[in-house]
Amino acid sequence: MDINVTFPSEEYFRLTDKEVNERILVAKSALGDSLFILGHHYQRDEVIRYADAVGDSLGLSKKAAQTSAKFIVFCGVHFMAETADIITAPDQVVFMPDVTAGCSLADMANIDQVEKTWQKMHYFSPEKTIPITYINSNVALKAFCGKNDGIVCTSSNAQKALEWAWSNGKRIFFFPDQFLGLNMAYRMGVPLEQILVWDQNKPFGGHSKQAIEKSRLILWNGSCCVHQEFSKEQIDLLRQGDPAIQIISHPECNFEVVQSSDFVGSTEFIIRKISDSPDGTHWGIGTEKNLVNRLKNRFPNKKIVFLQNYEPFCVSMSQTTSVHLLFILENLAKGNLINQVLVESEYRENALTALNRMLELA
Ligand code: 13P
Ligand code: SF4
Repeated sequence: MDINVTFPSEEYFRLTDKEVNERILVAKSALGDSLFILGHHYQRDEVIRYADAVGDSLGLSKKAAQTSAKFIVFCGVHFMAETADIITAPDQVVFMPDVTAGCSLADMANIDQVEKTWQKMHYFSPEKTIPITYINSNVALKAFCGKNDGIVCTSSNAQKALEWAWSNGKRIFFFPDQFLGLNMAYRMGVPLEQILVWDQNKPFGGHSKQAIEKSRLILWNGSCCVHQEFSKEQIDLLRQGDPAIQIISHPECNFEVVQSSDFVGSTEFIIRKISDSPDGTHWGIGTEKNLVNRLKNRFPNKKIVFLQNYEPFCVSMSQTTSVHLLFILENLAKGNLINQVLVESEYRENALTALNRMLELA
């Protein structure tokens, strides 16, 4: 995909925080109802405070589908803005403050690799296989799912998507995040022997004909580098030091971490669980630092720690700063439509089919 990128000039980066804040408010009020700012939970505080809606991937997709604003500014990563562009009306336009903010997990699978793998797995086992792509993927993979009777899922609705898929076919091909697929399927009672991770560098993914035939879930071997930083050893240490601690983690974490957690769920789930817990409770949270630090600030009467002894952060999510936000808003207010996210027309219809199947799951 060709992306036209425009970065703020140096002059923008010399502004004080106060000047940035004042100018954002002026630009926002000039744009009025024509503007809707979406912010993912992993965004910096300096950005999230200007968002009209804050949420996880599923919540933000729904907000994008509901708003009638002409300009949608997405503070998140590229696959999220692409999704918003697909599900909004043709006269609505989606922008990113920093359009180069990608997702390393989404980049771990491309359409050529997925199509080749799809053909190989059918060579041994022609029964109906349903493709599911995690929303953290590029649009070509969403279109692939739309075209092949498949669906998109997020970390909030992965279980429902798996149930839906198994009611429509024998096997699921899940990409690009192996851990979301593995963790959810195992929770649903699928035995590990029926779950395969496909290694593209080996013939037939490194599996025998019998193993492929027997499998109910074939996983792409992608993962999120941020969520792979957590370990069971660290959880054991936390529990030794604080027997009252409860562990809550994101389903992108590895299998052992998820098995050692008391609760597992999307960013929205984590926030809700901590918000609803009584004062005095102790929490170890396995997800990204901006979200966790906000919870610490919001709930000073709860003990909240990271699952590691450092703060894991998503480089891509942190790319967007208030200066980038100011830059896009001032340009929009002047009528300069820069840093637009526009999905290629060849993928739009099929990707929308897969996304609509997901939105209908609820
Ligand atoms: P959520 O949908 O849980 O917000 O997750 C998005 C994400 O990128 C997690 O790494
Ligand atoms: Fe992608 Fe991981 Fe960052 Fe989420 S935390 S946006 S999955 S790289």
